[in-house]
Amino acid sequence: MTLLVTGGAGFIGANFVLDWLVGSQEPIVNLDKLTYAGNPDTLISLQSDARHTLVQGDIGDSRLVDGLLAQYRPRAIINFAAESHVDRSIHGPAEFMQTNVIGTFNLLESVRAYLPTLSGAEQDAFRFLHVSTDEVYGTLESEDPPFTEVTPYAPNSPYSASKAASDHLVRAWHHTYGLPVLTTNCSNNYGPYHFPEKLIPLVIHNALAGKPLPVYGDGMQVRDWLYVKDHCSAIRRVLEAGKPGETYNVGGWNERANIDVVKTICGLLDQFRPLPQGSLHSDLITFVKDRPGHDRRYAIDARRIERELGWRPADTFETGIRKTVQWYLDNQAWVQGVTSGAYRNWVSRQYGA
Ligand code: NAD
Ligand code: TYD
Repeated sequence: MTLLVTGGAGFIGANFVLDWLVGSQEPIVNLDKLTYAGNPDTLISLQSDARHTLVQGDIGDSRLVDGLLAQYRPRAIINFAAESHVDRSIHGPAEFMQTNVIGTFNLLESVRAYLPTLSGAEQDAFRFLHVSTDEVYGTLESEDPPFTEVTPYAPNSPYSASKAASDHLVRAWHHTYGLPVLTTNCSNNYGPYHFPEKLIPLVIHNALAGKPLPVYGDGMQVRDWLYVKDHCSAIRRVLEAGKPGETYNVGGWNERANIDVVKTICGLLDQFRPLPQGSLHSDLITFVKDRPGHDRRYAIDARRIERELGWRPADTFETGIRKTVQWYLDNQAWVQGVTSGAYRNWVSRQYGA
């Protein structure tokens, strides 16, 4: 048996691949376009591991995908591949539509053609797991209850609109064509191998370099944070026991205001890498212009996946963020590798000089 993972050289996909191969002998074919966010260095430990095959290519390339399906005959596909950064989607939404919407559409069509080539038992066992986000539900006020699986979709950014569109396609391909799909809608992840354009790794990276820590607006926007390894365990559980056609919200029960996240990281760095007497990392906090259309609050009600599939996160925000800060301190070579020229262009475009 084989899994086809898409986007497995990105942050969550790579964590998933690495974790999977610790616990299973089942091989993985990893289809990744290797955009700026895809990094083969993350998978270097698998270089001579016969269980992992990295294929550089686009989920929207139907010929390539059809060929991979025919060659490897996977028993499941886990679709991580996406453009994933809200700020980039504001600057340039076209790539988001291409990969997140058209790419998912092409992938679904390839699966639709592939399924009849499997035996009856293989068709029954086959799953297409689509990895999505809580951002499709839009924004909450401070007193609103968290998102459930039946909260209406109300995306506000080009990123979340493109993910919502892909979720709708996945749903429709189940209802119309009977594709055995599963969708997970997860809150903000953090942990090892997170590209330093997102809040948590950006703050760690800048703080270590003595650079300003940019906080958008008043810093009181709230996100639910989940340690990436917990997201990977949720995906494994949904793949194993989720009911085709259903969606599962995945969250960490860890709502935090952005400014508190930044201060927590600063506190940890003060412990691990104290600055000269009288200075604190929090001195670097700088409030900057807000993100256009910035969603105020996301919160996930993850009771369904707990009730039906018995999944709960293992880490709290306190344990997860401590491990994450420590990981960045221990893995500066990885950070140097990904913060290349292209990364610096993005930083100067987004934050100015
Ligand atoms: P990421 O940006 O770190 O990685 C995305 C990966 O997809 C990269 O390796 C990239 O090269 C690859 N890719 C992009 N376009 C592709 C294409 N057309 N064909 C093949 N590969 C392509 O993203 P991530 O944070 O790892 O997110 C993975 C998935 O999880 C995404 O679908 C995202 O929407 C979803 N998600 C992310 C979070 C989060 O907090 N990061 C939370 C919930 C859901
Ligand atoms: P981000 O990591 O981009 O994830 P998302 O927008 O998908 O939630 O941002 C998390 C929060 O942090 C979000 O409210 C925007 C905010 N933020 C900043 O305040 N400063 C920054 O430099 C970045 C990148 C994000």
